[in-house]
Amino acid sequence: MFAPKLNFPQGMLAGQTAIITGAAQGIGAETALLFSREGCKVVIADIDGDKAAATAKAIVADGGVALAVGGDITNKESIASLVKQAAEFGDGKIHIIVNNAGYAWDDSIDKIHDKQWETIISLHNTAPFKLIREAAPYFMVKDGEPRNIVNISSTSGIYGNAGQASYALAKAGLVGLTKTVAQEWGPEYGVRANTVAFGAIKTRLTQAPSGQYIVRPDGEKHAVGFHGGYDEEEKWVGDIPLRRIGTPTDAARAVLGVVSPLFSYMTGQVSGGRGGM
Ligand SMILES: NC(=O)c1ccc[n+]([C@@H]2O[C@H](COP(=O)([O-])OP(=O)(O)OC[C@H]3O[C@@H](n4cnc5c(N)ncnc54)[C@H](O)[C@@H]3O)[C@@H](O)[C@H]2O)c1
Repeated sequence: MFAPKLNFPQGMLAGQTAIITGAAQGIGAETALLFSREGCKVVIADIDGDKAAATAKAIVADGGVALAVGGDITNKESIASLVKQAAEFGDGKIHIIVNNAGYAWDDSIDKIHDKQWETIISLHNTAPFKLIREAAPYFMVKDGEPRNIVNISSTSGIYGNAGQASYALAKAGLVGLTKTVAQEWGPEYGVRANTVAFGAIKTRLTQAPSGQYIVRPDGEKHAVGFHGGYDEEEKWVGDIPLRRIGTPTDAARAVLGVVSPLFSYMTGQVSGGRGGM
């Protein structure tokens, strides 16, 4: 017998609703766009509410259905409000969570101070866990529809990276969280959970620091950017088989692939990396 059609021609994610955190720009924004082009309603969650609104508007102009939700994902009330708004937007259903919001606040081990450490662990570990826990009622369901959790990790979490102790620990931690979700929610509810770990993707995160900031709700600003940025591109690409830094589209396609029916039997896995996908 032939395989069922993959929702052709409505798109591979037709009828689904996704929360994508950190989706105002970069990998998250591109992921939201690609999901929407596959028929998925997308919730653009980001600490930068204005940018989230602009991204949602652009996706709607592209023919998609998008909702912007501003808020700091490390904040308990923001998480509760995000899930509530997403469920209303999805007519009572949430099918996909992509835990993508993040940045690094780097220093060598001897210099990292407690706040720096705790901010990064809370952003990359505690927030994804709390979002998944808050959304549990929408994933522990048996309606026969697909459900996916994707946690965005980094090769720093797989191989380590000098100067990134907190980020590396947090990104490694996501792998364990993801596998646990796969084991808890797979058997009964068919939820798939996978990690996608990027190496080098061209976004604001990997540009040389250029005066751009994450503005925390308390008004504190954290500079974003990575060491020498693309001036060091040659150094970066030496261990990448394709010898180039990836684009947000390369990255988003990997996330789309993982949540798509093409990967219907893949769960608890880590894909991506500098050593090849
Ligand atoms: N770019 C890379 O090479 C690379 C490599 C490995 C992993 N990653 C991971 O990919 C994810 C996306 O990064 P990107 O490269 O697209 O960066 P980006 O800076 O372009 O986008 C990250 C987004 O996350 C948002 N964000 C940050 N803190 C937040 C918070 N507390 N609450 C809500 N939103 C918040 C930012 O406002 C921003 O819009 C991150 O988790 C990052 O660690 C990126």
